[in-house]
Amino acid sequence: MKQPAPIPLLSLKQQYKSLRPAMHAAAKRVLDSGVFILGPEGRAFEAEFAKTQGVPHAVGMASGTDALVLSLKAVGVGPGDEVIVPTFTFIATATAVSTLGATPVFADVDAETLTLSAESARRALSPKTKAVLPVHLFGQPADMDALLALSRERGLKVVEDCAQAHMARYKGRPAGALGHVGAFSFYPSKNLGAAGDAGLASTTDAALAETCLELRNCGRPLKGAAYHHPRIGYNSRLDELQAALLRVKLKKLSFWTKRRQELAALYAKKLAGLPLRLPPLGGGGTAPVFHLFVVRAPRRDELAAFLKERGIGTGVYYPIPVHKQPAYAAPSGGEDGRFPVAEEASRTALALPMFPELTAKEVERVCRAIREFFAKN
Ligand SMILES: Cc1ncc(COP(=O)(O)O)c(C=O)c1O
Repeated sequence: MKQPAPIPLLSLKQQYKSLRPAMHAAAKRVLDSGVFILGPEGRAFEAEFAKTQGVPHAVGMASGTDALVLSLKAVGVGPGDEVIVPTFTFIATATAVSTLGATPVFADVDAETLTLSAESARRALSPKTKAVLPVHLFGQPADMDALLALSRERGLKVVEDCAQAHMARYKGRPAGALGHVGAFSFYPSKNLGAAGDAGLASTTDAALAETCLELRNCGRPLKGAAYHHPRIGYNSRLDELQAALLRVKLKKLSFWTKRRQELAALYAKKLAGLPLRLPPLGGGGTAPVFHLFVVRAPRRDELAAFLKERGIGTGVYYPIPVHKQPAYAAPSGGEDGRFPVAEEASRTALALPMFPELTAKEVERVCRAIREFFAKN
């Protein structure tokens, strides 16, 4: 019998196929122009992204990690400070804090959304706490009302990790405009992905935007003489080639986001009644954008192997909570019971195929295979 075509976890090639002529034209335009750094493409992308995302100011940077580091620095995080970080996230959320000589203080995540728990964040407070760093993980907005209330009460800064949350909305408001600064990643597999590394900081505050513009360009002031540097900055500029390519893809982002949301709703419908924990679909102005569609499954590794045998790609995000990472001087694996939700999620979370070009038929095939697994096991 003929095997059906494999269904990957994600496919960048399918996306590229439809955009090939426009991407080639954009790359050629930059190469012909001879302007590669801090030129018109970068400025246009910043303005267009700000409009699409619904944030007043957008500052292009070299990666999402840099956007986090410079956002934290812009709000005043430095050596000796503590920043509260969810332990269930990609490690860059925490390393951005460490890069500045500050300390990430880990907190647990909410059992529904897998984003920073405000209660756990409250327990992590100390007199050294300078900022809170919620992550809109997998495109699911964090509980920003509670986190913003906590930060107001304690005079803390809030930097949103929006690496997985392009176009996400929380109670009608856009991710990246809820706290003081938001950090986006355009890593190729992200909902909006470059052809290399790229990132961006967003803010509603004009002064913070100016600080970010200076920090990304070696601390050079926006106004004033060249080669006078009043502050220590970095080289973290978004280059013209990436900006031009991102402009092509940005035009599709609303459509792609809607498509991810439709596919998520279909998954939820087709997986109903199975012993799985499904991600919330949003509502009331809160719109997750399903960078990944992550279910929590008993016997997760067996299920992944079963799907793999049937040509269905899955991924484990994230197998080790950050507080258990050797990089943070913790023994990896095992459980210490400190953050039970994160520990449970690291054992059970499984990402199913999710990308805008995925078809309804493919989603149905994935769901049928999952039903088959639970019928047999
Ligand atoms: C939650 C989260 N934070 C930060 C980053 C870092 O972004 P980048 O890879 O662009 O440096 C990523 C993505 O890789 C991420 O998923």
